Amino acid sequence: MAVSLIIGAQWGDEGKGKIVDFLASAADYVVRFHGGNNAGHTVVNDYGKFGLHLIPSGIFSKKATAVIANGTVVDLDVFLQEVAMIQKAGINMQKKLVISPRCHIILPYHKLLDTAYEAARGKGKTGTTGRGIGPVHADKVSYNGITIGDLLDGESFKEKLHVQLLVKNKILRALGEKEVNEKETVDHFIKLKKQIEPFVTDTFSLLQNALKAKKSIMMEGAQGVFLDNDWGTYPFVTASTIVSGGITAGAGIAPQNLTKVIGVVKAYTTRVGDGPFPTELFDEIGEKLRVIGSEVGVTTGRARRCGWFDAELVRFAAKLNGFTEIIVTKLDILDGFKEIFVCTGYTLQGKPVSYQQLSAKTLGSVKPVYKRVAGWNGKTKGVKKYADLPKGAKNYLKEIEKLVGVKISFVSTGEKRDEICKIV
Ligand code: IMP
Repeated sequence: MAVSLIIGAQWGDEGKGKIVDFLASAADYVVRFHGGNNAGHTVVNDYGKFGLHLIPSGIFSKKATAVIANGTVVDLDVFLQEVAMIQKAGINMQKKLVISPRCHIILPYHKLLDTAYEAARGKGKTGTTGRGIGPVHADKVSYNGITIGDLLDGESFKEKLHVQLLVKNKILRALGEKEVNEKETVDHFIKLKKQIEPFVTDTFSLLQNALKAKKSIMMEGAQGVFLDNDWGTYPFVTASTIVSGGITAGAGIAPQNLTKVIGVVKAYTTRVGDGPFPTELFDEIGEKLRVIGSEVGVTTGRARRCGWFDAELVRFAAKLNGFTEIIVTKLDILDGFKEIFVCTGYTLQGKPVSYQQLSAKTLGSVKPVYKRVAGWNGKTKGVKKYADLPKGAKNYLKEIEKLVGVKISFVSTGEKRDEICKIV
């Protein structure tokens, strides 16, 4: 039995989709357990290139069953659009994809409130994806949520929606937004109910049986540690728990089942949305990383902010989550850089400080301490064997490993599934 967990160790967009797609061939189950369609996981394989937001990236594996467990919040329209897209690519979805009845549903008012809160915050906005993620989680924890189970019941959905609209439409009206029409919403969701029903399963029992049968399970984390609601750069975070402990709340898998906690890190750092970013580059180097790295959000199409690798952050993420290994992605983007800088730590007003001592405000004022690492001649792009990597690239990886304090198991050298080297 193996339960591996993949976690983004920066601000999301580390290339987790490719890594899950690569590792999923060995898995019997690939499980999403938090977040929603704010995630954007790019997968390039024999079937084509896909931007997935909800359906686990392991859907393309011949063997794996893709599971959307209870901790995931679901926009049912997006779910069905993704089902149609994958079916069109020739994947038979029968028994390949299941979703928990405990998942909370994103309703039209969640998206409207997301936008309205952002506008109200003005300059201090979070820069959300606008998918209703914060408001649906707020409803969940304040006992105002509506689940897929409610929708299947039909009557529960109608009753709960009626109560919610009494409140939500008052708020929307006060904020000058359009109200949500009850009849139209009921009609739309009852139509969706028929289409999602075949996918709904008790995912807890499914995964418990899988554990008992010693099957291999891959937990597919979304976003990244520094967007975690508790440990990220609050309030510039997302609404869910991203850290390793989230698998119990989000999928019903007890922590001691975990055999591997894999942190995925980009060879540099990116962030989309607002909030502090100590190693951000505002010069032509940042622009070069953005262009060569195609750093544009899969979900929102926004340009990502780019900067050097920040070992202070990843070291913290490694301790917090108990990383047993890390996988470095997009090393090839640094091909052709004469010199590369790695942030080894921070100072604030001349004194060394650690991430955990800082608020979002003070993190925004730290000075990164940099170590210069020579670039390399030759290419890492598309290299499939560690031995074939240029010496300078190997040195860079060793530097990351030393600073983070966790072994690197693989390094990804391109977007295709096989553009990856096992570190020996
Ligand atoms: P929300 O999750 O849409 O509420 O957005 C909150 C913050 O998390 C914003 O800064 C988003 O840009 C960021 N965010 C949410 N999901 C992702 C992701 O999958 N990758 C990177 N950033 C994300």
